[in-house]
Amino acid sequence: MRFIHMTDMHITAEDQPLYGLSPRGRLEAAIDCINQDFTDVAFVMMTGDLVNRGTVGEYKALRTILKDLQVPHYLLLGNHDGREAFRQVFAGVPVDDNGFIQYVFEVEDKRFIVMDTLDEGKVAGLLCQQRLNWLTGQLDTQVQQDTFLFLHHPPLRLEGGEALAEMIGGGRIKHLFFGHVHRPLHGSWRGIPISSQHSTLHQFVYTFGSSIMQGCHEPPTFAAVNVVNGNVVINPHSYLDASPRFSLRSKAAMQAASPEELPPQ
Ligand SMILES: [Fe+2]
Repeated sequence: MRFIHMTDMHITAEDQPLYGLSPRGRLEAAIDCINQDFTDVAFVMMTGDLVNRGTVGEYKALRTILKDLQVPHYLLLGNHDGREAFRQVFAGVPVDDNGFIQYVFEVEDKRFIVMDTLDEGKVAGLLCQQRLNWLTGQLDTQVQQDTFLFLHHPPLRLEGGEALAEMIGGGRIKHLFFGHVHRPLHGSWRGIPISSQHSTLHQFVYTFGSSIMQGCHEPPTFAAVNVVNGNVVINPHSYLDASPRFSLRSKAAMQAASPEELPPQ
């Protein structure tokens, strides 16, 4: 099976531009690409910062855009989201007993756990004891299934992250996907494979060792995640790329001195 990991769409009401870009236009382009080239995916998972200010108007705008997506989608909350406004507009998304947007779904024989790291009014996320207790309940019922976890915030410096690592380490989670960093990022944390992708909108410049945050318009990606025989392969897809396609075996293409000289396909 395969699914899409997309993140940080930052949709605005009336499509007000953000950092010189159209949030709606960017998401619509991603949806068009999925509808055309990724029709076999089981679902699209959107890991938070669904909208920019967490208002009802923004969620209504998001709901309208998502009507065009032809495969199922799942949502979770990031620091730019608002829990109550989200629930007003997306009333069908499951909520746990404490009001957090946390749920589990299954596709084929695989299990997907969605957690809520939103700490309202703060940029940093939080996994409080209530939310971790909910996860304990989910893991307790786990049978031998490949299980995947989705959060908005990276777990590395997340309050509650160490407790999370204790709970999901030892192979209990196959892969942890998150957003927030507006950058493609892949590696492992406490032995757990982790990854994130670009935002569909603006990106964060990688500034190693510097505390100055800068944005940029590096092209966006979403990831096509392939899960086959227990293996996880993540293919970031630069869905706005409009560069020419060419045959790798074409002599004329190999010898082209510029993109304009590439033979048409
Ligand atoms: Fe974001």
